[in-house]
Amino acid sequence: DVAGLVDKFGREARDLRVSITEKCSLRCTYCMPEAGLPAIARENLLTAVEIGRLVGIAVRDLGVRDIRFTGGEPLMRNDLVEIIARSAEVADGASISMTTNGIGLDKRVGDLVAAGLTRVNISLDTVDRDHFARLTRRDRLPSVFAGIEAAKRAGLTPLKINAVLMRDTLGGALDLLEWSVANGVRLRFIEQMPLDADEAWARDNMVDAAELLDILSSRFVLTQPHREDPSAPAEEWIVDGGPATVGIIASVTRSFCEACDRTRLTAEGTVRSCLFGDDETDLRALLRGDASDAVIADWWRAAMWGKQAGHGMDRADFVRPVRSMGAIGG
Ligand code: GTP
Ligand code: 5AD
Ligand code: SF4
Repeated sequence: DVAGLVDKFGREARDLRVSITEKCSLRCTYCMPEAGLPAIARENLLTAVEIGRLVGIAVRDLGVRDIRFTGGEPLMRNDLVEIIARSAEVADGASISMTTNGIGLDKRVGDLVAAGLTRVNISLDTVDRDHFARLTRRDRLPSVFAGIEAAKRAGLTPLKINAVLMRDTLGGALDLLEWSVANGVRLRFIEQMPLDADEAWARDNMVDAAELLDILSSRFVLTQPHREDPSAPAEEWIVDGGPATVGIIASVTRSFCEACDRTRLTAEGTVRSCLFGDDETDLRALLRGDASDAVIADWWRAAMWGKQAGHGMDRADFVRPVRSMGAIGG
């Protein structure tokens, strides 16, 4: 029995999200600035060995059961296969998944699965090539489709698709759901959070779950909303009697912070207890300073104890975090 990552509100983090790079092959407007994020100096980035060690501590000493790699875009790391392999070696049955834009996945999926990757969530906001190019500032939709096909063939299922709700692409929401049903993937729409590097997010202009549901109901019969488990961010509806489903992650209008079970590591090796909490605890200095696993685990527990109650977006004194989504890890 381990002493887990408990916070002062009684929540326990069993889901670890590890950002492994700030780099990305796309420039989605709700996430990245046009020029990309400032590069992290090589010596400040955790190595595959360091990531493997921290994953081992999380599983063995802290009770983590799910490990997810994010970015930026995880496929931008040349040593991604090694990162997965070292993590799988110490995962002790914990799941190892990745959230990716899918570009280049077709070429590496075999090695990733062999290394121990069990599932992927792929970000795709529209199936219209022009809309995709405008939103991501890159004309790469065919590469994303190739990545999705390859992931399905490699058995990385159920495959979930994440689509951030934007006014510009809302007209394509029905086509995206139709495409998802036809392709046997589980689509989830996400309310946009104020984590865009350009700071263009505005509550008044945000597309919310209620508006989306109205639009989807014009073409599909949606029934029986439910969550996979209380900490799952998505509420799922059955589409046209099933088996297809569509999910909505309503982080803004129906926050699920009270059931949050996440702990995060940034690419530079700091623990972040909440997407929206700027206090971070540096584990990299400990790793490189010969601290024992037990000492690192204690610092990690202390970091999580101070986790804030929630994102606080509804409060008058809300301030955006300093880091944008690409620098935290979706
Ligand atoms: P599954 O276990 O496959 O359901 O993964 P997931 O939904 O937890 O992970 P994914 O990386 O696909 O995240 C989907 C989206 O949920 C992200 O893009 C974020 O918009 C949102 N999200 C993830 N973590 C948090 C969080 O801690 N708080 C909030 N408010 N939203 C989050
Ligand atoms: N709000 C909500 N989700 C976001 N993502 C990126 N930026 C935002 C944002 N501002 C999502 C992506 C992807 C994951 C990495 O984070 O769509 O699914
Ligand atoms: Fe890249 Fe993902 Fe951010 Fe888009 S959302 S710019 S794919 S990290």
